[in-house]
Amino acid sequence: MNIEEFFALKESPFKTTVDEKYYFSSVQHRTAFNKIKYVIDTMGGLTVVIGGSGMGKSMLSRRLILDLNPKEYELGLIIIAHTGVAGALLLKQIAQHMGVSNASESDPVGTISALYKQLLILNQEKGVKPVILIDEANMFDKKEQMEELRGLMNLEGQGQKLINLVLLGIPELEHSLRLDPALAQRVILKITLGPLQQGEVKAYINHRLRIAGGSEEIFDDDACDIIYNVSRGIPRLINTLCLNTLWRAKDMGTRIVNANIVTAVAKESLGHLNGI
Ligand SMILES: Nc1ncnc2c1ncn2[C@@H]1O[C@H](COP(=O)(O)OP(=O)(O)O)[C@@H](O)[C@H]1O
Ligand SMILES: [Mg+2]
Repeated sequence: MNIEEFFALKESPFKTTVDEKYYFSSVQHRTAFNKIKYVIDTMGGLTVVIGGSGMGKSMLSRRLILDLNPKEYELGLIIIAHTGVAGALLLKQIAQHMGVSNASESDPVGTISALYKQLLILNQEKGVKPVILIDEANMFDKKEQMEELRGLMNLEGQGQKLINLVLLGIPELEHSLRLDPALAQRVILKITLGPLQQGEVKAYINHRLRIAGGSEEIFDDDACDIIYNVSRGIPRLINTLCLNTLWRAKDMGTRIVNANIVTAVAKESLGHLNGI
C-alpha cells in the first residue's frame, strides 16, 4: 500500500516540484506578489526577488505568469539553466517572448531594433504591459549579460519604460547585479522572500493535503511546531519532511502524525543538511 491509499489522498501532497495548483498565499508570497504587480502595472522597470533555495521563488514566478491576465500583459518566463549564457541569446529569447518573429542571435542590433518597435506596439497600440521574468538569474556571471538587460531598461517611449523585468534568484544574484553597477542602480524594487511564519506552517501543510484530496487532520499541532523548527519555515524542507513523515507513519500504521514521529524522521531524512 502506498501513502496515497493509506491516507486516502488522490495524489502525493508534498512533491518538491513546482505545481501552481498547490500555491499557498503566505504572507511573504502575497506581499511579494502585490508589490511586483504594482511595479508592473506602473511600468516601473526592474524588480529583483532574492530568496534562499527552496523558499518558493520559482513558485512565485509561475503564479505571476498564471495570474496576470494575458489580455493585459505580454508575459515571458526564461529559466537560466547554466552560467555563461550569451547576451545575444538572451536578447533573442526576450524578443521572441515579446512576439518578434525574426529575432536572431547573430544580429543583436537588428533584434533590439525590432524589439523596440514591438514594445512600442504592445504599449501604445495594444495597451498591454510587457513583462519578462527571469528565474535562476543568479546564473548570470558576465557583465555583457547584465549590459544586455540594462539596454532593455533604457528603452523608453513617451517618457515611459517599455518593458518590465523581474529577476529571481538565490542571494548570489547580488553578485550578478554588481557586475554592472549601472543596472544595479536601476532596481526599483528589491524583495527578499523569506520563510513561512511559524503560525502559517500548519495552514500550509493542511492546504497541500486538501489540494491532494485528503484529510487536513493528519499532522497535530505539536508535529507542526517541530516541522517549523526543523525546516525554519522553508517550504521545500517542509515538503521533504512531511513526505518522509507520511511514509514513516504509514509503516507504523498510524494516521495521525505527532511530534515524536516528526523528530525521528527529521534526524533521518534531513540530517544531511547543515544545522539540522
Ligand atoms: N507559496 C507556496 N505555496 C505552495 N508551495 C510552495 C510555496 N512556496 C514554495 N512551495 C513549494 O516548495 C518547493 C520549493 O519551491 P521553489 O519555488 O522551487 O523554491 P525556489 O525556487 O525558491 O528554490 C516546491 O515544491 C514548491 O511547490
Ligand atoms: Mg527555483
